[in-house]
Amino acid sequence: MKVLKFRKYGSPDYLEIQEISQPIPADDQVLIKIKAVSINDWDWGLLYGTPFVPNRFMAGLFRPHIILGCDIAGVVDSVGARVTAFKPGDEVYGDLSACGFGGLAEYVCAPQTMVRLKSPAMRFEQAAAIPQAGMLALQSIQAGGQLQPGQSVLINGAGGGVGSIAIQLLKANNLEVSGVDSAEKLQAMRDWGFDHVIDYRAEDFTRNNKRYDLIIDAKTDRAPKDYERALKPGGVYATVGGAMSGLLRIALSGLRVNRDRNKKLQVIMLEVNRDLAYFNELFEAGQFKPVIDSEFTFTENAVREAFHYYGKAAQKGKVVVTI
Ligand SMILES: NC(=O)c1ccc[n+]([C@@H]2O[C@H](COP(=O)([O-])OP(=O)(O)OC[C@H]3O[C@@H](n4cnc5c(N)ncnc54)[C@H](OP(=O)(O)O)[C@@H]3O)[C@@H](O)[C@H]2O)c1
Repeated sequence: MKVLKFRKYGSPDYLEIQEISQPIPADDQVLIKIKAVSINDWDWGLLYGTPFVPNRFMAGLFRPHIILGCDIAGVVDSVGARVTAFKPGDEVYGDLSACGFGGLAEYVCAPQTMVRLKSPAMRFEQAAAIPQAGMLALQSIQAGGQLQPGQSVLINGAGGGVGSIAIQLLKANNLEVSGVDSAEKLQAMRDWGFDHVIDYRAEDFTRNNKRYDLIIDAKTDRAPKDYERALKPGGVYATVGGAMSGLLRIALSGLRVNRDRNKKLQVIMLEVNRDLAYFNELFEAGQFKPVIDSEFTFTENAVREAFHYYGKAAQKGKVVVTI
């Protein structure tokens, strides 16, 4: 079968398609024929081997041995002896980041606990765009507690995967939502439903005297006190991503803020695939649709192009590779 490998860290140009033998599922695994994969920030970090911890420990200290691709959608080809949840022919999707990645390939083996049935109404490309960004979006919204209609939410780094899903979940509950990203993405964000948009190069949302009940951050890069200032009393700051040092500071200062004041700073630790059944329901009810920026095919040149494109961060929503 064809898989995407890379011989050294540092560039999409090192990605190459190789032939390896098809894996055989262990007793608790399913063998999935992959149909589509979406690219995540984590794939990019593994391709570059940064940050060193944890990515080099996952992908190989000096030479990478990992096959990228965690958000997958496909068809169950065969199942191990102890698999009860799936049968050949089932259409499934899921985030394989907790079981070694491997999605950019014609087939992958995954524990049955790592995938969920896909709604038949979803295209494979749409399904592959959901798992990681969808779980981060939902879990960071849930960190805000019982938000009431009219309360205000800000998403920083709102033009990417998490923002394009979170906005749909938030607007369904009549919240007032602001989004921060680069100028090129602001019109698309308005089209998705953001009430207010902010160009992060022109305005610092932590210093414009506006306050929010919930801040969701995909790009933590400021001091904890800045985020604290931008929260209303009782507000929650939930970060899903950013520089490791920034996340550590949030985790540590969160303890102080949580204890001393009526505000909460929190790092969201991804729980993979937890609510994919809920996304199936929303999709079937017409209340949610993943935003796909572009689709690439599974040839060496096209996949290199897909990663180069992802690296420019110009995408609005998700970048997907069709296998
Ligand atoms: N917590 C966990 O357990 C966990 C697990 C997996 C992944 N993650 C993290 O979760 C995040 C996923 O976010 P995503 O999928 O939405 O990423 P994404 O699709 O890459 O989108 C991030 C957006 O942020 C924008 N951006 C870049 N720098 C910014 C800044 N300084 N201020 C505001 N916006 C900025 C980017 O646009 P421009 O570059 O054009 O500005 C891009 O539109 C990533 O940070 C990932 O590492 C966390």
